[in-house]
Amino acid sequence: MTDNANFSLSGKDFQYPVLSGTVGPDVVDIRKLYGQTGAFTYDPGFTSTASCQSKLTYIDGDEGVLLHRGYAIGDLAEHSSFMEVAYLLLNGELPSADELSGFENTITRHTMLHEQLATFYRGFRRDAHPMAIMCGVVGALSAFYHDSTDIHDARQRMIASHRLIAKMPTIAAMAYKYSVGQPFLYPDNSLSYTGNFLRMTFGVPAEPYEVNPAVEKAMDRIFILHADHEQNASTSTVRLAGSSGANPFACIAAGIACLWGPAHGGANEAALNMLHEIGTPEKIPEYIARAKDKNDPFRLMGFGHRVYKNYDPRATVMQKTVREVFEALNVQDPVFETALRLEEIALNDEYFVEKKLFPNVDFYSGVILSAIGFPTSMFTALFALARTVGWVAQWNEMITDPDQKIGRPRQLYTGPTQREYLPVGSR
Ligand code: SDX
Repeated sequence: MTDNANFSLSGKDFQYPVLSGTVGPDVVDIRKLYGQTGAFTYDPGFTSTASCQSKLTYIDGDEGVLLHRGYAIGDLAEHSSFMEVAYLLLNGELPSADELSGFENTITRHTMLHEQLATFYRGFRRDAHPMAIMCGVVGALSAFYHDSTDIHDARQRMIASHRLIAKMPTIAAMAYKYSVGQPFLYPDNSLSYTGNFLRMTFGVPAEPYEVNPAVEKAMDRIFILHADHEQNASTSTVRLAGSSGANPFACIAAGIACLWGPAHGGANEAALNMLHEIGTPEKIPEYIARAKDKNDPFRLMGFGHRVYKNYDPRATVMQKTVREVFEALNVQDPVFETALRLEEIALNDEYFVEKKLFPNVDFYSGVILSAIGFPTSMFTALFALARTVGWVAQWNEMITDPDQKIGRPRQLYTGPTQREYLPVGSR
């Protein structure tokens, strides 16, 4: 604790402790404010509110810094693997070689789904959005894995966490297979986490599937870039659902539902659709003008961020990965040129400069995912697959936080005061 914040209201003075973390903004501990002043604070969108203490991820939005347990996202994307980052987020330290292989073996052995869940898919239309399927199937997991729903049992919490991390690729791949009318492929335990996902998605029973190492590496890096991101909307949703004691499968299903929104994880799908709609660089000025027009609801998808007022460090890695995937697959996509040109024009436009709007993680990811072969409808499902690691790590941290209690915000009431009920004949 460093010092106190002084506050006066209706002629009375109050003091609230200021708490400091290891790095980043201090917080004013206002837990006693309502009890002492009878007033609430007002912060729609939580732009100035810290909802918890956390050791998982630190973001410096002004400097464009993103750390997971102290390790920079650029270092992790360059040198680590998604399984190693998952271990790091869950356990707090990078694993030894034995710890990593033990973790990978555990996850590998949880990749299969209860066979009856396959029939669950048959209830959806073939053209159901994969995120609708993910919400439904992940929520349904709590009906199949009762032996890992006791949130007060550390062992059951870890089993549920491993099951969720392990089964998301299987669930996502099955959602894709169902949408294209191809048979589901079972996991192949001889493959890596990411290689297994690529085979379940793009393989067919009629012939062997060779994992392309360059695609596997790029996909694994994309998973790393999406693993966790402090108290974003979907993570806050998981924490709020978990604060009521809901089982972990229900909490992650709630996070998936929140991530689907185009202002959040749905932006990767919206960004590629926008780039296709723009088509050629000649039409960029028209869309920039629309994004700046207060009367036009259109926004540049993949641009801007609540926290980053600098370049999203994940977008930097993503742009580099586009070039690597294009080279590995020997593909060109004019959409990438349009994206690069759009970024260049926007970053030289006073509106975007003044409002500190830069490309975020969603701006380039769709270009890569499309080159690998995913339809745009799968993009947010891939985001959910990767973010499950962060969600379960944040959920575990919340459950074991001594300060944790059920989340229950208040409001500024602006509705009618009490009034007499009038029978319908006299209204
Ligand atoms: C993700 O929180 C996380 O960490 C999320 C995420 C994660 O990993 O979990 O990083 C993933 O969700 C990334 C963001 C993906 N969303 C998009 O790309 C959608 C487009 N971006 C915006 O909708 C917006 O930038 C948000 C939602 C991302 C952030 O919105 P804020 O923080 O609430 O900011 P704001 O809406 O108040 O915007 C500030 C100003 C406004 O203008 P004024 O009212 O001040 O005049 O900037 C403008 C906005 O109109 N603005 C944009 C814009 N984003 C903000 N104008 C045009 N195009 C945009 N993209």
